[in-house]
Amino acid sequence: MIFSLSGSKCQVEGEIFLPGDKSITHRALFLSAISRGKTSIENYSTSEDCLTTVEVLKQLGVKFKYKSKREIIAFGKGLDGLNKPGKDIFIKESGTTFRLLLGILAGQFFLSKVCAGKSLSKRPMSRVTQPLRLMGACISSANRRLTSAVYHPAEEYPPITISSGGLKGIVYKMPVASAQVKSAILLAGLYASGLCKIVEPVKTRDHTERMLKLFKAGIKISGNNILLEGGRNLVSPEKIYIPGDISSASFFIVLASILPRSKLVIRNVGLNSTRCGMIKVLKRMGAEIKIKELRLKSKECEPVGDLIIKSSKLRGTLVTEKEIPSLIDELPVLMVAAAYANGKSIFRGVGELRVKETDRIRSMSENLRKMGADIEVHKSAKSIDIIIRGKGALKGAKVSSFNDHRTAMSLVVAGLHAEGRTVIDNISCISKSFPGFIAYIKKIVEK
Ligand code: S3P
Repeated sequence: MIFSLSGSKCQVEGEIFLPGDKSITHRALFLSAISRGKTSIENYSTSEDCLTTVEVLKQLGVKFKYKSKREIIAFGKGLDGLNKPGKDIFIKESGTTFRLLLGILAGQFFLSKVCAGKSLSKRPMSRVTQPLRLMGACISSANRRLTSAVYHPAEEYPPITISSGGLKGIVYKMPVASAQVKSAILLAGLYASGLCKIVEPVKTRDHTERMLKLFKAGIKISGNNILLEGGRNLVSPEKIYIPGDISSASFFIVLASILPRSKLVIRNVGLNSTRCGMIKVLKRMGAEIKIKELRLKSKECEPVGDLIIKSSKLRGTLVTEKEIPSLIDELPVLMVAAAYANGKSIFRGVGELRVKETDRIRSMSENLRKMGADIEVHKSAKSIDIIIRGKGALKGAKVSSFNDHRTAMSLVVAGLHAEGRTVIDNISCISKSFPGFIAYIKKIVEK
């Protein structure tokens, strides 16, 4: 679907309540499926990716009941209750579903073949298959030859065939900071004999650890070290509440910051510090963001609060490599903020953006350049950095989402403050994470 919008003279006004967090919903679905008993998941994400997780779990024999538009009930089968799938498992484009599922399938004594859609089939999987093999999983994959710059000859891609060879705990120092990889190891660790110790290079989102605690797993965390005891059954907490998605909120936070005369309240947003890097960075840039009523309810296991955002004049900033995992999915929209700020912004160590749904360094720099932004990408052996010299303004242009949801939503934000018309080639990809995004925009943007 082509989307055309005209910017300038817009403002944002109102109060919104966002759908549940996509990352946390995936974890709630997976852990409910392999725990004993019934779990009600309230305010779950109805994104395409999370619905893929539901479908895949159904294929493994888990039953679900949609209680209302906002509540789904999972009937858990226990750690060893999953069924062998009757056919190949098709994951479409959900990277989180794919990698977390590999962790669970590594613990199953039946063989599964896991296939993916076109874009996910080009995303690297050896970061997950390597530690799972060390734990004792039997894995084979189509090892493709180098066909373009993004492919690495020694890399592994879907489809992947996997089964357990009897798992044992490992000590694993993660070479890449990735919450998906960490979570896959933790899920496999539930099926392992002995202890699993994971050491993260930088702390990544800790939703899996929090939820494992809620399901009474034997897990201990100390700094960047995680210790998990294998072979212990999970106990359902019966109810889980999923907070609003901070990644979805990020588009509105930037929009309300850059559009003059704006004031926006976002209620009930997940404010886990391992996910909130973008708020910290925007505040450093001069954004007026207030957090009201930070609370943690036992059935939530995640901090939740309300945000109040007012327009402000943004200035450039330095985003360090250490901060990247806490804002990895928000980098595209932060690049928009940097282009509208005054002065130089540097984003250090953003190489992981190359292996998301699309190469987001390319998608965002090409598009923002078309809109008049001054962007440089610096590559060295150690790091990829982005430098944006913000000029406080952009102009409308014909741009492309590269079929990537976060690129598309960032371009909508950029276009709403640009001078003139912006035409985005395809925005249907937005449903991957946020099906109602355009309706929310229409609700809060005034001319
Ligand atoms: C996610 C982790 C991040 C993130 C992705 C969701 C998760 O990926 O980019 O959108 O839910 O664990 P990596 O683990 O590859 O950094």
